[in-house]
Amino acid sequence: MGKHLSTNRGRKTIGTSLEFKVVQNVQDETEPLKYYLPNSIKDTDIMVMSHFFNRYLFQCNFKSPIEEKLTSGQCKVLDVCCGSGTWLLDMASSYGSSNFFGIDLCPVFPTEIKPANVQFIQGDVLDGLPFDDNTFDFVHQKHMVDVYTLDQWHFAITEIIRVCKPGGYVEFAEPELATNAGPILSKFYDALVELSESRNVKMRMYDNLIKILNSTTSVKNVKYKKAKISLGSGFLGNEFLEIHHEFFLKAMPETLSKFMGLSEGDYIELFKKAKSEVENGMSPDCELYRIWCQKL
Ligand SMILES: C[S@@+](CC[C@H](N)C(=O)[O-])C[C@H]1O[C@@H](n2cnc3c(N)ncnc32)[C@H](O)[C@@H]1O
Repeated sequence: MGKHLSTNRGRKTIGTSLEFKVVQNVQDETEPLKYYLPNSIKDTDIMVMSHFFNRYLFQCNFKSPIEEKLTSGQCKVLDVCCGSGTWLLDMASSYGSSNFFGIDLCPVFPTEIKPANVQFIQGDVLDGLPFDDNTFDFVHQKHMVDVYTLDQWHFAITEIIRVCKPGGYVEFAEPELATNAGPILSKFYDALVELSESRNVKMRMYDNLIKILNSTTSVKNVKYKKAKISLGSGFLGNEFLEIHHEFFLKAMPETLSKFMGLSEGDYIELFKKAKSEVENGMSPDCELYRIWCQKL
């Protein structure tokens, strides 16, 4: 049997046997897009860059103490909102005897050429994760800070904890909006914050995430690791500036230029000035963090 579907609290759940094939949940074309970024190939380039940047910055792919379990095999891992699937593919090649699952609203993950221990599923987290309670040893989610509203964070965290096994770990990796930016780059950050607030999304979630997890009675030992970099300064600062470049100049121009009341041409010119500002020493402080805890 490949796929098994069962019902859990009115939710369709998917058996995680490895013969399972990708579920197609084709979106009605008349429905508004549920994810505000284009999620095109340009966006997936940033996901790939940001994965390797994050791994280098933290010198690891996760902080939860699950290395032994992953190495011993048969560990079940879920990456929620997996995007291009780069984190999962990297993990799957390091831990060949464990099994990896990714879910994303948009099928930007590889569907054909991928390791045998990885499965991707198209689905909306906000409909509830399509898995039974206590299915995974480790549930990971990265970079959803500019996507979820506070209510959606609460829902997603509840779902993530629900599908994690008791004794298993859940982990979140996010960037915090930079501080001390120069006047030109600040215009871009401010526009991003305003755009997010217009969607009821908070760009600074660190304190909220810690608070939500600490108030959740089904997890213990909430821990975190922060990494700080100065944008445009040193190797990591320059790499992060490249990610800014990809984000603001490739993924965002259409959305953000309209929001800032600029033509796309003027938007691009202004961003180039923001980049020069950084290169000339106005380096904002950037912080990325990982938060993890154990399910009781
Ligand atoms: C900023 S990207 C992060 C992707 C990946 N986690 C990473 O770090 O590269 C956000 C991803 O979340 C997905 N997404 C947004 N809303 C979602 C939802 N409600 N359910 C599932 N995926 C969602 C988008 O399709 C996109 O791939």
